[in-house]
Amino acid sequence: MAYHVESSVSPELLKSVVACKVFKKDVKISKISDGAVFNFTLASGTKLFSANAVVKYLYDTNHSGYKHQFSTLRWLEWEHNCLRNLIAAACVNESNADSQNILQTALTTLESAWKSDGLQKDPVLQCVFACILYPVFYQSSAISAKLSKNYPSLFSFILEHVKSSFFIAALNEICQNDQYVDNFKSYFSAVFKSSQKVTQSYHSSEMNSHGNNSAGEINKEVEKISQKEIDEAKLAWNKGTKGIKHHDRQHPILPQPGKRNILITSALPYVNNIPHLGNIIGCVLSADVFSRYCRLRHWNSLYICGTDEYGTATETKAAQEGVTPQQICDKYNKLHCEVYDWFNIDFDYFGRTTTKKQTVIAQDIFWHLHRNGYLQPQIVEQLYCAQCNRFLADRFVEGTCPLCTYEDARGDQCDKCGKLINAVELKNPKCKMCSAPPEVRSSQHLFVDLPKLEPKLREHLKKSFENVGWTANAKMITESWLRDGLKPRCITRDLKWGTPVPLEGYTDKVFYVWFDAPIGYISITANYTKDWEKWWKNPENVELYNFMAKDNVPFHSVIFPSCLMGTSDKYTLVSNLNATEYLNYEDGKFSKSRGVGVFGNHAKDTGIDADIWRFYLLYVRPESQDTVFSWNDFMLKNNSELLNNLGNFINRSLKFTTGAFNGILPKVVLNDRDYELMAEVNREIDEYIADMDRIRLRENLRKILNISRLGNQYFQENQPWKLVKGNETDKERAGTVTSVGVNLSCLLSILLEPYMPATSRIIWEQMNAPAYFTTTFPQRFVQFLPEGHKLNKPSPLFRKLDEAEMDSLKKRFCGEGTGQQNKEKLPTQNNSVKTDVNVSELEKKVTEQGNSVREMKSKKLEKAVIDKAVQDLLGLKRQLALAKGEDPNAGKIGGKKNKKKK
Ligand code: 2FM
Ligand code: ZN
Repeated sequence: MAYHVESSVSPELLKSVVACKVFKKDVKISKISDGAVFNFTLASGTKLFSANAVVKYLYDTNHSGYKHQFSTLRWLEWEHNCLRNLIAAACVNESNADSQNILQTALTTLESAWKSDGLQKDPVLQCVFACILYPVFYQSSAISAKLSKNYPSLFSFILEHVKSSFFIAALNEICQNDQYVDNFKSYFSAVFKSSQKVTQSYHSSEMNSHGNNSAGEINKEVEKISQKEIDEAKLAWNKGTKGIKHHDRQHPILPQPGKRNILITSALPYVNNIPHLGNIIGCVLSADVFSRYCRLRHWNSLYICGTDEYGTATETKAAQEGVTPQQICDKYNKLHCEVYDWFNIDFDYFGRTTTKKQTVIAQDIFWHLHRNGYLQPQIVEQLYCAQCNRFLADRFVEGTCPLCTYEDARGDQCDKCGKLINAVELKNPKCKMCSAPPEVRSSQHLFVDLPKLEPKLREHLKKSFENVGWTANAKMITESWLRDGLKPRCITRDLKWGTPVPLEGYTDKVFYVWFDAPIGYISITANYTKDWEKWWKNPENVELYNFMAKDNVPFHSVIFPSCLMGTSDKYTLVSNLNATEYLNYEDGKFSKSRGVGVFGNHAKDTGIDADIWRFYLLYVRPESQDTVFSWNDFMLKNNSELLNNLGNFINRSLKFTTGAFNGILPKVVLNDRDYELMAEVNREIDEYIADMDRIRLRENLRKILNISRLGNQYFQENQPWKLVKGNETDKERAGTVTSVGVNLSCLLSILLEPYMPATSRIIWEQMNAPAYFTTTFPQRFVQFLPEGHKLNKPSPLFRKLDEAEMDSLKKRFCGEGTGQQNKEKLPTQNNSVKTDVNVSELEKKVTEQGNSVREMKSKKLEKAVIDKAVQDLLGLKRQLALAKGEDPNAGKIGGKKNKKKK
């Protein structure tokens, strides 16, 4: 093979040499800067900068026309951006348990994908992973024995691969076998150093295969704790809970002078469908976390949401189900309430748009726009179905694409050529409901004159954009709308189901659902309190935070505020707009029509607590890019972060107090190391606050996990379980460490509240902490619980998820394969779908959980603890019922009532 090598030995070099052999190609390789950076020159003269790109390129040129799977690219990136750095950190910090654990978590991810996602059949990935993992697996026999046990598929793959003639030839060509393994370390020291340079800015966006940060916080160059920080930590600790006051929220919440008054909305979900996990994290859950945080800060906040009930989709759904639109709304409004209730979304008020207040307020806004000259009539040509006796929304017409002659084009877009279509231009159009050919009819509609309102809008946005809560995508989408200048928008429709247009000549029409829907925020507030204007006509004293997915942005940042400004009433306008990207499901998208993915009403049937769902959804919140819900990753994050990190720390601190000190907090005699811990924790709290203010909810969750990591380290360093057996000084030290640990757990329970409210509650019940602590955000690590405080009985907070469980859930909700398969495998309305879950295994789990509930009851453990165990039991029972093909809701014990607050 004629390639040119001017480089030291490294996995990057080996990858490209192996690929040259396997794919029978040449490439010139030269080292350009330090040990970690290469430059590969192809025969054509093109340069590439990563061995992975070379491997892929060599494969592609050998398989012309081959299109890589998305997963190939994703895993190549993961290898380059994540795995390499983790191996480097583990090589450099051999004795650091965190670095080793993190690498192991990454290998577990790879192992399960290797087996189940068929990665082992991908020649590109084979090449890349064999070279990088080979030295990791070829260490001392003790290490390889452990690895072969933990990662059997990877291990046997490497064993096979390194025996191949290609690999042997490649290795021989660059060095001696041992030399490769030896050089590996020095190579990775170089990788580690160069990664450290970028880590500070990069660590927060380091990706694993699912677009999330798998690594915990490694490589972070930490600035030393200063004396000033230590002094401040001391002061705060000693001040304790003085100043923490009980805070009671009394409904109706109204703005108060001199306070931060924060009005929070989540996009109003359409009522014709059940929300899926992507909808939940995109709106209601994100807003819930922020709203709970505002309450902790004792800001005067109000969280409003409800169902968006008008529009064609509702009418169509009603026709399909043979009921009235109002009946559809009632049915789905109830389903939405149940889902959100299960997820513990704590709205201050959850309403709906089909109310009298909606009509009154929407028509009032309309009249003001009309009187102020912001509405103009225009003739619109539309398709009308004489048989159905209605105008057809674009999505409800099918026909031949006028551009590419594809026969199944929709009225708004052709799925073949992808072009947008004007429905009246479709050839051979057919009504989707009855298949009759519609006719073109003209109809006069009303348009809001956005160009005339544009200057006012720009002025408002200029100021509003200065607030930290706008996401980059929200600003960008808004700016792109403004860039081309606004156009008039039609606000009326020829439909029956909607808020009636009150103007003479238009009374057979209703408002366009996107004119109507945001007004829903106002009318829902008006149904909550007669003093709604104190929230909505009070721009000087109210901050309005809107949460939504990015497709809703222009309606909230451009059209709705323009309409409100056109009234000349002084409405409260958006001050922070927080928009998420999309959450995908396994390798595809959630699809309502094809039934792909987990929908809100299924989550409770998984036997996994709502808080765990909240945790994972927030952990993968699509904050700055699309992310993926993956069952494997769900399991990994539960096991590594909740069980082994957070749960482990809290449980060990409480259990140790119970075991060694009879549940009574011992005396605290602090030393410098303790104050240093406090100062480190305080830094994390500062970042927590900064992140919450900017609504970086996903980033922020890592702050909590960092704090419990600090706690675990602190315990590990001090080993109170050994000290407690020593002399008096040792015993005193054991007492201090224990008390500090319990107090740190108390702090964690508060920081956790916005994310995992039920868990937070269980922690403070186990700690027997006064309830009012937990309704207050401390801002500093203080002594919450003094010497002598008696804890309640602790019990584990989380349970392990295992692969068998994930596999059965994956199958049940069928994240892979075609939509049809998904549809078939998803539980139907009555959930009577048989799966091949291991019934006997589930039966065993039900029996075990049943026994442990009985035991807890006999021991009279805390109510919250028992309740949680009962919920787990019910979840397992539901899973079992589903596995047996029975209705999981039959014979349900004590279903939670749907509570709506007022
Ligand atoms: O996209 C949607 O689900 C819409 N129902 C959101 C409406 S948000 C607000 F304007 F009501
Ligand atoms: Zn029709």
